[in-house]
Amino acid sequence: MIEEIHRAGRWRLSFLGHVLRPFAWLYQRRLDRLRQRLVQRVVADPGSGTEMAGRYDSRAAATMYLSHHESISLNRLRHALLARAEVRAISRALEVVRPEKRILDAPAGTGKLWKLFCSFGIPVVGVDASQEMLDRAPNMPGVERLRADVTNLPFQTAYFDVAVSLRLFHRLPPRTRRSALNELARVSNGRLIASYAFVSGVLRTRYWLVSGLRRSTEWAPHPVTREQLLLELNSAGLELISLRRVAGVLSNEVIVIARRGGLSQP
Ligand SMILES: C[S@@+](CC[C@H](N)C(=O)[O-])C[C@H]1O[C@@H](n2cnc3c(N)ncnc32)[C@H](O)[C@@H]1O
Repeated sequence: MIEEIHRAGRWRLSFLGHVLRPFAWLYQRRLDRLRQRLVQRVVADPGSGTEMAGRYDSRAAATMYLSHHESISLNRLRHALLARAEVRAISRALEVVRPEKRILDAPAGTGKLWKLFCSFGIPVVGVDASQEMLDRAPNMPGVERLRADVTNLPFQTAYFDVAVSLRLFHRLPPRTRRSALNELARVSNGRLIASYAFVSGVLRTRYWLVSGLRRSTEWAPHPVTREQLLLELNSAGLELISLRRVAGVLSNEVIVIARRGGLSQP
């Protein structure tokens, strides 16, 4: 008798489990979506550039970043290949700009571009908000490193003849991005090479596909359209010289060369 009551109880419980399972699944998806939105608001869509600067200011983050672009292991192959494509793209851009005085690398991160910059035989200053990142950059003759905020640089106007900003603008919200752009244009005498996450043409579709697959835009929370880019450059007194994709349709990253309107040389 007792055994029969137990069996009936177990059957009811499992029946209830089957009935409730789809609701539990829907509830879990809703929770996932809420968690996702919360993370994007707090981490990926920061209100200012300060949160972005803090993102890399830890030993673990700096070590992880360095291993991403130096490693050639299979699971990190994409990062390594992209880093090499970025160096090639910056090299091509520098051939156009031809700096002769001093190069600003902001943000410098772990000094990914320093070997390339050294080949120009002119002084280089690498600026970053994270000391942890700068500490992991290699020691190279002619390269100084300095912890500073890209929106408030401790250099006089036109101290450099080019500013290079790789992998920063795609993470800065428009207001911070504009003030960084103005500051970089000020210290570089209006000669700028910068990367952006681009969402015009075919790269717009790529962006939404990748974001859909990852269920997040955290990988590039602040992309720009061609119109936005031109407006921002224009309001910083710059004009677009060229825009090139870093890795075709395999990445949304583009390298932009801009100069102060009215300069005769790029
Ligand atoms: C993705 S890393 C890119 C570093 C380097 N350009 C590269 O391509 O390897 C972004 C860097 O931006 C720095 N950063 C973020 N906000 C900054 C700010 N407001 N001023 C200066 N550096 C900043 C971070 O500390 C981090 O090192």
